[in-house]
Amino acid sequence: NWTMDDFIKLSVDSIREEVGDANVILGISGGVDSSVTATLLHKAIGSQLTAIFVDHGLLRKNESDEVMAALKEGLGVNIVRVDAKDRFMSKLAGVTDPEKKRKIIGNEFVQVFNDEAKKIKDAKFLVQGTLYTDVIESGTDTAHTIKSHHNVGGLPEDMQFKLIEPLRQLFKDEVRVLGEKLGLPHDLVWRQPFPGPGLAIRVIGEITEEKLRIVRDADAILREEVKNAGLQESIWQYFVALPGMRSVGVMGDGRTYDYAVCIRAVTSIDGMTADFAQIPWDVLQKISVRIVNEVKQVNRVLYDVTSKPPATIEYE
Ligand code: XMP
Repeated sequence: NWTMDDFIKLSVDSIREEVGDANVILGISGGVDSSVTATLLHKAIGSQLTAIFVDHGLLRKNESDEVMAALKEGLGVNIVRVDAKDRFMSKLAGVTDPEKKRKIIGNEFVQVFNDEAKKIKDAKFLVQGTLYTDVIESGTDTAHTIKSHHNVGGLPEDMQFKLIEPLRQLFKDEVRVLGEKLGLPHDLVWRQPFPGPGLAIRVIGEITEEKLRIVRDADAILREEVKNAGLQESIWQYFVALPGMRSVGVMGDGRTYDYAVCIRAVTSIDGMTADFAQIPWDVLQKISVRIVNEVKQVNRVLYDVTSKPPATIEYE
């Protein structure tokens, strides 16, 4: 009977044999797949691996630190975090078109990664966290395109790498089990799907520090309350988006004119189709009260009751 322990042993052996004493690099975006890949490679070749974590400043609240705590402090993975927030923010300033935002983020990711990769001596291999589903899907959907962030295609011609894709035979659920076996924290490996461009596609239109702060803080409250209600495993994705509209409200004796945030929660099997999740009203009420009380400049909370199709899960 095939077990995850067998998989780990076979992978470790074959990675060691293939790599020899060369150095290996890997790009980390903060997601599950690349984190598990890094952990597997670390087990196989230790410090011959350098994982480059491009922090674009568009992750959820505390996420970047949690990834570092688990991989570096927790497991001793040789990981370099590049704080590239300012680079991304200046490139994104004033940009409102969704596809332009995605392209800018993709290109910038490759450039930051390349700048860092050049510093690593004798790197002969590039690892990618490609899954079985990525292999069988055509390269035309958005999710796949974004995964080409760490693609050899984006690297300069003078950098010649051999590609290693140790998760090619695994499905997402298996990757999560593998991650836990390798010692990554449960909450980290079972995180809900999160898009490569991060919060940038949940702030509709122009991205500003203030809008990111609102969406990040409101999202943290939503996640906390979904977890308190024990719903986190039954909902595929749940997050807050900022449509950018403002509306009139009243607080104390005063009139307010502040942002509305939108709660998006869906059930799904694979993300291709989805139904809006039926979060109980009392849970929604708690979330709404907390968001308006705790997140400055929000005076209204909306709940998205559209399925996919016709809407998509994300807003951009
Ligand atoms: P949509 O919004 O198209 O999303 O219904 C379907 C699923 O894909 C995720 N998604 C992405 N994942 N890079 C990713 O890695 C992306 O650019 C991207 N855009 C959407 C989305 O969160 C949902 O799970």
